[in-house]
Amino acid sequence: MLIVYISLTGQTRKFVKKLNMDLLELNPANPFIEINQPFIIVTPTYDGEVKEWLEDFLETGQNKEFAKGIAGGGNLNFGPLFVSTAKALSATYDIPILHQFEFQGTDEDVRILKKAVNDLDNNK
Ligand SMILES: Cc1cc2nc3c(=O)[nH]c(=O)nc-3n(C[C@H](O)[C@H](O)[C@H](O)COP(=O)(O)O)c2cc1C
Repeated sequence: MLIVYISLTGQTRKFVKKLNMDLLELNPANPFIEINQPFIIVTPTYDGEVKEWLEDFLETGQNKEFAKGIAGGGNLNFGPLFVSTAKALSATYDIPILHQFEFQGTDEDVRILKKAVNDLDNNK
């Protein structure tokens, strides 16, 4: 499964590198990349712009048809806003949340998301 991600300060990049899967880092200056294969999104949480970049990406070509899941990274200190970017995209596009984690994730976070992706692969 292809992992499409954004990372502004490097935490999400560190997390996805531990997954050992194909990676595509979106460049916020040009999120209009067309993907013709199933993928999942891994996104950090910020106000505003990150969600807009991912919306631009999902609205490009047939991308939203290929989006199989979302994992959200964030910081629990944000309380009710924890991983709110992933939750908002999930609600807008009806894409399931596969996992939520803090910062660059733990070994357990890696294990859980890899299992969720494998389960998706086996059900396609
Ligand atoms: C300005 C700013 C706003 C943030 N807002 C939230 C938030 O609303 N909810 C949350 O869970 N994490 C929030 N975070 C935490 C980041 O999502 C978290 O540190 C994430 O791991 C950063 O990923 P990145 O280094 O790949 O950009 C915020 C961080 C910053 C710097």
